[in-house]
Amino acid sequence: MDLEDLPGVGPAIAEKLRDGGFNSLEAIAVASPAELVSAAEIGEATAAKIINAARVAADIGGFETGDKILERRREVGKLKTSSKSLDDLLGGGLETRAITEFYGEFGSGKTQIAHQLAVNVQLPPEKGGLNGSVVIIDTENTFRPERIQNMAEGAGLEYAGVLQNIHIARAYNSNHQILLVDRAEKLAEELKETEKPVRLLIIDSATAHFRSEYVGRGTLADRQQKINKHLHDALRFGDLNNAVVMITNQVQVRPDAFFGDPTRPIGGHIVGHTATFRIYLRKSKGEKRIARLVDSPNLPEAEAVFSVTGPGIRD
Ligand code: GTP
Ligand code: MG
Repeated sequence: MDLEDLPGVGPAIAEKLRDGGFNSLEAIAVASPAELVSAAEIGEATAAKIINAARVAADIGGFETGDKILERRREVGKLKTSSKSLDDLLGGGLETRAITEFYGEFGSGKTQIAHQLAVNVQLPPEKGGLNGSVVIIDTENTFRPERIQNMAEGAGLEYAGVLQNIHIARAYNSNHQILLVDRAEKLAEELKETEKPVRLLIIDSATAHFRSEYVGRGTLADRQQKINKHLHDALRFGDLNNAVVMITNQVQVRPDAFFGDPTRPIGGHIVGHTATFRIYLRKSKGEKRIARLVDSPNLPEAEAVFSVTGPGIRD
């Protein structure tokens, strides 16, 4: 079934929907009427009708029994990091259909982990990958092909081929960054039936643009609302593509903290509620880094030590 088969959707509206990133019945089924109204310039009532029809067609939206959910949980893939201790901390690797957030100060290894995952996702499952390709939204211009070369060689992969499965877009500001998730959905749709479907979305950093653009107390609510939407878009991407969503986040120093660790992640509880797994990274001696699992629905809080080395992330 095509978008054009939905009631009230002609070729013109279908095109606008696709342009807005709503390029499958699933994407429309989980959209809100307001999103379709602005994407396709249609009325609220028409939007609601389209969504309902898409829900029926895509079989989405009703109640499910627990065993169905268990069955779907079995499809959840795990992407390994090349550090056994970090994988163990995560219960075997980063899960698909969830957001995993790495936050920590500069140099704590967030971007290095992102590079490693971009390589590892291309490996077959028996080697810790998902046999897929990756989309990277790079907001700080820190993607380095040279590091991919080190890590690809470290993983026994051929460098040139690995680079071809890494799709990078530089985000120039927060609005552009939000838009790029839509573009990523289109790309994922195109690659769905290929040998390397998109199984990983990286947003590095998820919050830096928002932090620098929304300064001052008065803009805080606005900023949080935008971050919230952005992360929900990312989560939807993960759900629709059975993909891992990895985001990075810096920390800010709380000048009012007298006890304990004075740093906390940007975006605070908004990011916290949307990210399924949160990992706080700290620098230790030399190549060593300490990862702390802060928030997880089914794993205990714990710490792991890993290293950032020449050929990549290791124990
Ligand atoms: P910000 O983006 O600035 O917040 O930091 P980040 O957490 O993304 O830091 P990143 O992952 O870029 O870590 C940078 C650190 O990784 C450097 O300080 C080095 O310690 C390490 N690193 C980067 N490249 C190499 C390399 O080629 N070899 C080795 N051994 N270490 C590297
Ligand atoms: Mg970085």
